[in-house]
Amino acid sequence: MHYLKIVGGKKLEGNIEISGAKNAALPLLASTLLSKNSVTLQNMPNVEDIKTFIQLLKNLGAVCEFENNVAKIDTNSINSTCANYDIVRKMRASILTLGPILTRFGHCEVSLPGGCAIGQRPIDLHLKALELMGANIKIKEGYVLATAEDGLKGANIVFDKITVTGSENIIMAAVLAHGTTVLSNVAKEPEVVQLCEVLVSGGAKINGIGTDELIIEGSRGKLLNFSNAYVIPDRIEAGTYLCAGAITNSEITLKNVEVDHLKAIIAKLTSMGFSFEKNSKCLTIKPSQKILPADIETVEYPGFPTDMQAQFMALTTQANGVSVIDEKLFENRFMHVSELSRMGADIKLTSHTATVFGPTKLTGADVMATDLRASSALVLAALVAKGTTKIHRIYHLDRGYENLEGKLKALGVDIERLNE
Ligand code: EPZ
Repeated sequence: MHYLKIVGGKKLEGNIEISGAKNAALPLLASTLLSKNSVTLQNMPNVEDIKTFIQLLKNLGAVCEFENNVAKIDTNSINSTCANYDIVRKMRASILTLGPILTRFGHCEVSLPGGCAIGQRPIDLHLKALELMGANIKIKEGYVLATAEDGLKGANIVFDKITVTGSENIIMAAVLAHGTTVLSNVAKEPEVVQLCEVLVSGGAKINGIGTDELIIEGSRGKLLNFSNAYVIPDRIEAGTYLCAGAITNSEITLKNVEVDHLKAIIAKLTSMGFSFEKNSKCLTIKPSQKILPADIETVEYPGFPTDMQAQFMALTTQANGVSVIDEKLFENRFMHVSELSRMGADIKLTSHTATVFGPTKLTGADVMATDLRASSALVLAALVAKGTTKIHRIYHLDRGYENLEGKLKALGVDIERLNE
């Protein structure tokens, strides 16, 4: 097991490259199950979740190569329709194999993903939508057993709640279905948009891309023929590094970002006193005279992203005043509060709301990562904490941040990855 050792108090400077988006790359990997040709995905982030998903595709019988951030996937040799527990428990996004396998093979057995640190995270909306498309769904011994012997049928589906992977699962199920599917209240995240664009490049018929209603004309079981795809930049990684610049009140430049995907994050940082220079795929954050507090409510895209909530909580500990953070999407996404408090943060918690009193002087401590984004909040706090912080269980970080210590070291951070 590794841990990160960070000595705080340094200003950052320089620039870093943002990697491809993990949450775009995962559904794109799943979509290769719909392709008759070998698929090449470029700008893939070299992170654990991607390696785990590729292992899952290999376990299903696909031929996969992954090096230098390029994945080549050929699913013609698939010989299993079962995504088993030992891999699904490691990465809940494995549920994204359900829609594609079911619509292609007429049956599928996927382990229930179970909850995680941030919440119970049910998949009832995925299953209800597949039943509306004619699937027969049984839950047995912790597995979803889904069958649709004559293939899935097009259907009119309204999601009770906006669900990102739920939308992605049903979009992929619908592109091979028999008939037309109308999906309403569908997620509009950039990662969902890119999935639709890549499916269309493969011959899928999808109208309404980027809106909350999609009309998908199924191919009646005919596989797609994908062109190469280049994964969009990771907006959450970018937002995390913007917070690294903000919390140390430094000027840094991010390269290979999609500024359009960062509007809510840039707006919130601007309201806190920071300013920006944008050109094409580069974004520079400039220091604030005085960091102002923020009121944050997490909502679906294009609103303020829940995946940036923990990072902003770390930042608001340095703001001059009281910040209020409302987590509306997940019921337990405040695991970072206790660890930040151990570093000296002054945060009051009710069930869904954190009130952060700043500025507080943070001091280095031994802290524990609990989930992917909570871990990045601890890294941010360590950048300004007095003395040394050791962050344990950083396998959480490795799931979604490529070469984090290399990128921070290049910005001037005193950071090391060591063995426990
Ligand atoms: C995706 O998770 C992301 N993961 C999450 O990022 C992100 O936090 C989340 O969307 C919200 O933006 C990937 O894309 C791989 P949801 P997902 O279904 O799809 C409830 C990270 O840090 N819900 O949009 O699992 C659910 O409980 C990860 O990279 C149901 O009730 O999230 C939650 O309250 C963490 N029933 C809300 O909807 C369902 O069937 C949104 O969940 C599905 C979801």
